[in-house]
Amino acid sequence: MKNSVFAFLLILFTNTVHAQQGNKGSSDYFILTPGPANSPRLNNALVYGCGPARDFLYRIPCQGKRPIKFSASELPAGLKLDENTGIITGLSPQKGTYDVILKAKNKYGVSSKKFQIKVEGKLALTPPMGWSSWYAYYDRITDKIIRQTTDLMIETGMADLGYSYVNLDDCWAISAPNNKMMLLGDTTRYGIARKNDGSINTNRHFPDMKSMTTYIHSKGLKAGIYSSPGPQTCMNFEGSYKHEAQDAKQFAEWGFDFLKYDWCSYWNIIPQTRTTADFIKPYAQMGQELNRINRDIIYSLCQYGHADVWKWGASVGGNSWRTAGDLGFKELDKVFDIALRNASFGKYNKPGEWNDPDYISIGYFGGNLTRGYPEKTKMPAWLQYSYMSLWSMMASPIIYSGDLTQIDEFTLNVLCNPEIIEINQDPLGQCGKVIMHSDKQFIMVKELSDGTRAVALFNREHTPVKISTRWNEIGADGKQKLRDVWRQKDLGAFTDAFEWDIPAQGCMVVKLTPIK
Ligand code: GLA
Repeated sequence: MKNSVFAFLLILFTNTVHAQQGNKGSSDYFILTPGPANSPRLNNALVYGCGPARDFLYRIPCQGKRPIKFSASELPAGLKLDENTGIITGLSPQKGTYDVILKAKNKYGVSSKKFQIKVEGKLALTPPMGWSSWYAYYDRITDKIIRQTTDLMIETGMADLGYSYVNLDDCWAISAPNNKMMLLGDTTRYGIARKNDGSINTNRHFPDMKSMTTYIHSKGLKAGIYSSPGPQTCMNFEGSYKHEAQDAKQFAEWGFDFLKYDWCSYWNIIPQTRTTADFIKPYAQMGQELNRINRDIIYSLCQYGHADVWKWGASVGGNSWRTAGDLGFKELDKVFDIALRNASFGKYNKPGEWNDPDYISIGYFGGNLTRGYPEKTKMPAWLQYSYMSLWSMMASPIIYSGDLTQIDEFTLNVLCNPEIIEINQDPLGQCGKVIMHSDKQFIMVKELSDGTRAVALFNREHTPVKISTRWNEIGADGKQKLRDVWRQKDLGAFTDAFEWDIPAQGCMVVKLTPIK
């Protein structure tokens, strides 16, 4: 008891320092998380889902100084691990659950971690993580940028945290003639949309899709593509309407592992009646086509949350569905509203079936409204930590959409805290439950698979506030060991309450481990 009072006082003291740190203003970026150690730290999610007898590809996410030697015990037959790169390839085994132990060793130490491969056909058993071209490149995206970004995912260390999908968004196909959406009026994206046999053409910035995905795969990462159930995408490029089977087959042949299917011009196709069945139809159709294909392709529904998509997204084979429109970033603190709305559908969130509140856009990106060139975000540092914390607490897909050629230390620090990512990737797949204290202050509580819980305190005010919580409010019981997740610091033992000064628009994420 005495111990916890002391720890509490100590925290109040150190806490003031942190709170001041957070009030320096939006131009000051401060690093909360210590850099990775030299010794290996395996960051794989504890479970991974795939279909039977499919191409298998998994790059073991692991921090620490390279060279690292990887090994795996009980790896199912048909799979092989490259001990130098940590990339597992091969053909997935027959249906079943395979318990593997991964090991990573370098001259500074060794780390091992469980890795369960569930071969049941269900994909994305933990929220998808990766990068999307949209907010950084719009209609300027090219094959060259995709390859460069693939390299940067490795070089920046993002892949060592589990960021694995390199997703090409809109503007790779052929544009409608005189496309008014394209800011550059880029005629190099015009042309003949489909071949005589109906197969879809790329524009000249994507000369060889198969070679591009092979490049991505050679680094152990996965490739994503984008289309629309309508005749045209949101940027007026060729969509999949009336070519669903052909396009699904083509995307698989090109070697893609992820499809974002974006409503866009389907508004012109949907009957005036607009029943829920009308909203479901195009997604069910593409879902069936993907099902017929002998390849694991994550299916990401993008229709901005119409017709309560969270209720039926999984029934059409969706692995995730957007719960709202584009973040847009007209008002920066919109992330709180988007998150609270997304969390209100939290009960529909489960392994392989994720509510998607849109991308993480921090660092350098072009505003959605202008679709301009990347500029440094004006989002205050604390709001960026809150943004990442919210997405992690909600088990949302963590897809970074920004310019990796300009990424800075601060942005990487926000994106790459392994303990925050671990909360996001927890196998229970629970979306944090929201406890509102007022319009401006709330708490999120997420139960984790190991019997611990993550608790996040959020402050929407533009001034610091003190937020406290009692165990009965968050469902905890008895003595708990607390860990400050962002700073990766143990805070000591607490018996029934916790309080913290939360900076303007900031947060505090703690992990509570019961002490037996
Ligand atoms: C919509 C989507 C965005 C992006 C664009 C592409 O606005 O919501 O995420 O894919 O289309 O045109």
